[in-house]
Amino acid sequence: MLFFIDSADTAEISELKTWGVVDGVTTNPSLIAKSGRNRDEVIKEIAEIIDGPISAEVIGTDFESMIKEGRELAAIHENVVVKVPMTMDGLKATHYFSQNNIKTNVTLIFSANQALLAAKNGATYVSPFIGRLDDIGQTGMELLREIRQIFDNYTLHTDILAASIRHSEHLKEAALIGADVATIPGSIIKKLISHPLTTIGLENFLKDHANSLK
Ligand code: E4P
Repeated sequence: MLFFIDSADTAEISELKTWGVVDGVTTNPSLIAKSGRNRDEVIKEIAEIIDGPISAEVIGTDFESMIKEGRELAAIHENVVVKVPMTMDGLKATHYFSQNNIKTNVTLIFSANQALLAAKNGATYVSPFIGRLDDIGQTGMELLREIRQIFDNYTLHTDILAASIRHSEHLKEAALIGADVATIPGSIIKKLISHPLTTIGLENFLKDHANSLK
């Protein structure tokens, strides 16, 4: 399973890179707005930090704008993946990009049929939003399971990118289901490391070692 960092904070991305767990990065317009910086500048800087796929989302909502913006984004760096929303125009743009060797991440996927359509149109990644489905009382993980089954039934080559991951159980379940990628906020990656028994166990080992020297 690949780990992408769900962030547009270049300082955070640089720090997490040193942990050796970052295979790529995903951004969205909200994360870019939170950074307070220009999207293209941020994407360029991330590409200098991380040698892996970097999703950069288009703002345009009609086909022509998506194509123009997507081409500009793809020209920033060869690792840029153009992120397009799951709409009719987004699907058309995905098809266009797949014919022109530009990688895509179809975002805001909330049903298995949306994922199937995006895959048929040549999407490189589909991003089912797990946490946002949980937020409205549905089971996001069920969507991931359905998409995995459908893609396996037909040997579709689109990668499943588990998005909107909110806690460690989401990540574990996504890995058990076989999502190809999980995009994870830095705060959650940090939490994955800790376990109270690890902390207590280490304290006791060090205490016993110190006592043995007395
Ligand atoms: C990433 O590609 C998505 O935009 C992101 O995971 C959404 O997460 P959120 O639902 O926590 O905003």
